[in-house]
Amino acid sequence: MIEKKTPHATGSTTQSGAPAVSDRQSLTVGPDGPVVLHDSHLVETHQHFNRMNIPERRPHAKGSGAFGEFEVTEDVSQYTKALVFQPGTKTEMLARFSTVAGELGSPDTWRDVRGFSLRFYSEEGNYDLVGNNTPVFFMRDPMKFTHFIRSQKRLPDSGLRDGTMQWDFWANNPETAHQVTYLMGPRGLPRTWAEMNGYGSHTYMWVNAEGERFWVKYHFISQQGVHNFTNDEAVKMAGENADYHRQDLFESIAAGNFPKWDLYVQVMPYEEAKTYRYNPFDLTKVWSQKDYPRIKVGTMTLNRNPENHFAQIEQAAFSPGNTVPGIGLSPDRMLLARSFAYHDAARYRIGTNFAQLPVNQPKCPVNSYTFDGQMTYHHQGNAPQYVPNSFDHSWSDEEGRVDNGWEADGEMTRESQTLRKDDDDFGQAGILVREVFSDAERAEFVQTVAGALDGVKEPVLSKALEYWKNVDAETGAKIEEAVKAAAGDEIPGV
Ligand code: HEM
Repeated sequence: MIEKKTPHATGSTTQSGAPAVSDRQSLTVGPDGPVVLHDSHLVETHQHFNRMNIPERRPHAKGSGAFGEFEVTEDVSQYTKALVFQPGTKTEMLARFSTVAGELGSPDTWRDVRGFSLRFYSEEGNYDLVGNNTPVFFMRDPMKFTHFIRSQKRLPDSGLRDGTMQWDFWANNPETAHQVTYLMGPRGLPRTWAEMNGYGSHTYMWVNAEGERFWVKYHFISQQGVHNFTNDEAVKMAGENADYHRQDLFESIAAGNFPKWDLYVQVMPYEEAKTYRYNPFDLTKVWSQKDYPRIKVGTMTLNRNPENHFAQIEQAAFSPGNTVPGIGLSPDRMLLARSFAYHDAARYRIGTNFAQLPVNQPKCPVNSYTFDGQMTYHHQGNAPQYVPNSFDHSWSDEEGRVDNGWEADGEMTRESQTLRKDDDDFGQAGILVREVFSDAERAEFVQTVAGALDGVKEPVLSKALEYWKNVDAETGAKIEEAVKAAAGDEIPGV
């Protein structure tokens, strides 16, 4: 006779909803006999447990996020007709912050660029802006992306991360200099996620109701201010609390301290892109704020924690390809490649119907001509699955010039994008070191780079030292001095 052991255990069920009988005792042949295979409750719990993990994101694996809202406080309707940016509009949002190179479980405070992924659940569909806490990136051609990420991850034999491999990639790709300067500077160690700015980084297109086109760059400026850890603080925190940033965001929101960011855009009239002094679609460059000052749009507030990290953050699938009317991409070839990479990753990482999960579902009606596949939940009954059809199942049928496009023509080619008068790989990195960093930040920067070069093998070390001299001769010389001092002046070839 089965008896109830704990009075307050009011009962669980199997996945099929039947009483589970016991979550503590397996079904056995007598108290000392073997477990029987037809204990389907035991088998079910183990089988599900073995499948609890999904592949982690290839880059940006470690992160967390929260929900909130975006409120438009200004009028930018002269630049975009997107409903999400019309005066007074409030839109529900999701944000996810992350490190790039570390795997799930790696410390939040390791030096890295931070991901700054945003989703606006707009009335016209999900608009995703998948950016970073830096306004530039390591390269301008997507062909280099997979090589870059592998160089920052782990060696094939030891499974260790490796400075020689990281610097080999950077030193052989001088266009990385601007972003590596950000990375090795104070912004590589944000104190909390709330205390960092976010950037769309790429150039995007906005289109107004008259069909006029503009190029824009997004800047999310933290109302908490930008504050960073020193190297020592970050290393200590990595040992004390690997989840420091995740915990800070969750606990701040739980306590009612809602982090806020003001969104500003830089706007470039469409035609000016053709003659601007450097290529405005080069992701390794910022636009001068003297040429294109920031214009305020509104404020983002994160005010609701996830109820379930796995369901709502791990399964979130952002994509730069998720745009809405009034917003488009740009000729930035990195952005164009990203527009198809992310949902491919989501299909592998989460599954064919990732878009049906609540966190990924738009808040507006969906009438998509994609059907079936694993885990189909929402469906359209027996509506026709083809177009055109004679049974009132609506479809889209516009043709002609799209309003968020641009002119492109020429022979197919494999070469770098056209460089202009002020295009070079080291110029803006040098300005960052000389004019943006304070004296104290520059001194810490020298120590950080020298520390990161510790143990880097030749010929990579010499190339890396040359790279920094190209960024700034004086700072480069100080880095070389610091590296030599640390190595006891015994670096061959330097
Ligand atoms: C060709 C260039 C790039 C490719 C192919 C690429 C690809 C990817 C892929 C496959 C993921 C994982 C997505 C997932 O599993 O859900 C990812 C994540 C991410 N990437 Fe990129 N990426 C590129 C460049 C960039 C750039 C330039 C930025 C920022 C400006 C960026 C920011 C992010 C962020 C923030 C995430 C995390 C998304 C999340 O929070 O779920 N990536 N990237």
